[in-house]
Amino acid sequence: MPASFLKVIAALKEDIDRYVITNNKSWLFVLFNNQGLWVTIQYRFSHWVHYHVHLPIIRPLLKFVCAVWKKLIEIITGCNFPSQAEIGIGLYIAHPIGINIYRDAKIGNYCNLSQHITIGIGGRGKNRGTPTIGDRVFIGPGACLFGPIIVGNDVAIGANAVVTHNLPNNAVAVGVPAKVISYQSSKDYILYREYYH
Ligand SMILES: CC(C)(COP(=O)(O)OP(=O)(O)OC[C@H]1O[C@@H](n2cnc3c(N)ncnc32)[C@H](O)[C@@H]1OP(=O)(O)O)[C@@H](O)C(=O)NCCC(=O)NCCS
Repeated sequence: MPASFLKVIAALKEDIDRYVITNNKSWLFVLFNNQGLWVTIQYRFSHWVHYHVHLPIIRPLLKFVCAVWKKLIEIITGCNFPSQAEIGIGLYIAHPIGINIYRDAKIGNYCNLSQHITIGIGGRGKNRGTPTIGDRVFIGPGACLFGPIIVGNDVAIGANAVVTHNLPNNAVAVGVPAKVISYQSSKDYILYREYYH
C-alpha cells in the first residue's frame, strides 16, 4: 500500500479516537453513529486522490467517485470540505451541519469544528486570502473566519464570532468583530488522548 495512503489511515485513526474519547463509546459505534466522521472520511479520501493519485484512467475515475460522494455529503449535511484544503489529524465535528471551508484554508491538528461555521476567502487586492488555523483550536457554532488571518495554537473562538484579524496562541475570542477576552486557551473544550491521560 502506498505510504501516502497509510498516512490517510493514520489520520483517520486519530479522527476516530477523538470521537471515542469525547463520547466514551467504541470505535465501531462512533464510526456508524457520527456523521462528522462520514464528512471527514470523504474529505481525507478525496484529499488523497487529489494530491497523490496520478495514474491515467484511475485518477479521473476516482475523481468522479469523489465528486459524487462529496455532493451526497453536501446534500445530506450542507457541509463543504474541498479536497484541496489542508486539515490536520484528529478532526472533531460534533454536529456537521452547514460548515463551509474554502479550498485554500489550512486547519491544524486536533481541532473542533461546530455547526454553521465558515472558514472562507475574504479581503481585497493583496489583502485577499484564507485563514490558517493552528493546532487544538475550538471554533464555536456559527463562527465566521475569513481573510488571510493566522489563528494560533490552542485558541477558542466563541459562538457566532466573526474573526477578521490574527489571534495569538491561547486566546479566547468572542463577538463581532472578535476580540480577545482571555488567554485561558481551548483547554477543556478539546479532548484528545494525549490531553486525556
Ligand atoms: C468562547 C468560549 C469557548 C469561551 O469559553 P470560556 O473561556 O469558558 O469563557 P466563558 O464562557 O466563561 O465566557 C467569558 C465571558 O465571555 C462571554 N461570552 C462567552 N461566549 C460568548 C460568545 N460566543 N459571544 C459573546 N460573549 C461570549 C460570557 O458571557 C462571559 O462574559 P462575562 O464575563 O461578562 O460573564 C465559549 O463561551 C463558547 O462560545 N462556547 C461555545 C460552546 C458551544 O458551542 N456549545 C454547544 C456545542 S453544540
